[in-house]
Amino acid sequence: MHLAIGKFIVVPLIVAFPMLLISCKKNEAAPEDTVQYTQTPVTISSGMPGYPAPTIPADNPTTEEGVLLGRTLFYDPKLSADGTISCASCHQLSKGMADGLPVSVGIRNQRTDRSSMPLINLAWVNKFFWDGRVNSLEEQSLHPIDNPLEMGNSIGNVVSYLQGQPAYVNLFRRAFNTGTVNATLVAKSIAQFERTLVSFNSKYDRFIRGQEALTAEEAKGLALFSQHPDPFAGANGVRGANCNDCHSVGLFQGKTTGFQGFMNNGTPAGIGLPQDLGLQLVTNQTSDAGKMRIPTLRNIALTAPYMHAGQFGTLADVMDHYNSPDLFQKPNVDILITSAINRRFTTELGLTSAEKQAVIAFLNTLTDTSFVNNPAFKKP
Ligand code: HEC
Ligand code: HEC
Repeated sequence: MHLAIGKFIVVPLIVAFPMLLISCKKNEAAPEDTVQYTQTPVTISSGMPGYPAPTIPADNPTTEEGVLLGRTLFYDPKLSADGTISCASCHQLSKGMADGLPVSVGIRNQRTDRSSMPLINLAWVNKFFWDGRVNSLEEQSLHPIDNPLEMGNSIGNVVSYLQGQPAYVNLFRRAFNTGTVNATLVAKSIAQFERTLVSFNSKYDRFIRGQEALTAEEAKGLALFSQHPDPFAGANGVRGANCNDCHSVGLFQGKTTGFQGFMNNGTPAGIGLPQDLGLQLVTNQTSDAGKMRIPTLRNIALTAPYMHAGQFGTLADVMDHYNSPDLFQKPNVDILITSAINRRFTTELGLTSAEKQAVIAFLNTLTDTSFVNNPAFKKP
């Protein structure tokens, strides 16, 4: 009896105290579902006069709270099966949001078959991955999580991990007014963070805004970059490197209408890999064999090695590729390349070494150090 009375008295005390503590904490850190939060809208803009605003999906407006949640998820290795790989492992800010490897390496040191892509100005992109197989950032965000070579997890696991973390539940409440975690909200918040990764403050941009001058070599590089060569124009012809035909000045990427921004530039297969069919994998059209997304050249000095499987180590190697006479002989190389010659009756682009150097000098003006040092893009 004594024991029973003792228990009767002791048990409620033991239960009551922690309950009091829990309920106090709850009110501060993890408010009830009924609390309605107001989200602060974030405007995504290039900051460049006359530049088009990106299209943001109506059902996923960008908000400060959503971005914070997405950014926290982006840097969390616990989203991977063995807790070792986060999105940021393969998309590092200091490397222009790529990873510096020819092809990315996922959990358990597994080698993937493609190079990481720089996550820059994605709000202006509507076909994602090298082969364009995904149509929105919301759809893209979940792919790396259950890709067995990348993060090797299941979305279900990720949702239950997040649901069990009060700090995350709180972030979901503030971003979406619900403490019930689900895959759609994970995807939405990561997409919101990615849309904020805007880079328009390179030397080139400051030149466009009239705030800084280009050197003579950089200016020559820009002119070459922008011009389609025509050796038959006038006595001396127009010299050009022809890059703007695909990497259009502004975003320095391909067109965003349908698959127009996908081209075959004659890049060879990656080391130890078969020739990547690219867009053909998505459209099943043999005419699309080897077509790849025309990637942005912004921050290009930071994202070596280059192409879909890191085939070229340096920008000098890239320039040699575009200048190689062999390029004109390869099957399926785009006509924008094979129609660009600087000397009459030749079958090569034919830039001089000084011209190649000038184009590289210009490409180096596309580095945006304020982007790679932006505290808003770092691990929160
Ligand atoms: C193991 C390395 C790795 C991890 C981890 C990883 N990525 Fe990637 N990412 C890549 C590679 C490689 C590609 C290109 C894949 C392809 O084209 O098939 C890519 C492409 C992308 C793209 C497409 C960009 C474009 O311009 O089309 C986005 C967006 C992206 N990743 C976001 C993420 C997010 C968000 C996460 C975390 C949920 C993540 N990545 C995790 C390696 C990785
Ligand atoms: C016919 C269209 C076309 C033309 C013209 C073109 N490119 Fe490209 N460029 C592409 C495509 C497509 C890729 C991606 C190919 C791949 O990964 O297989 C690419 C990739 C690149 C890359 C690597 C980017 C990265 O993130 O790895 C660089 C650098 C580059 N191009 C620079 C140039 C320069 C400089 C010129 C002018 C001399 C030029 N390009 C002309 C279509 C083109």
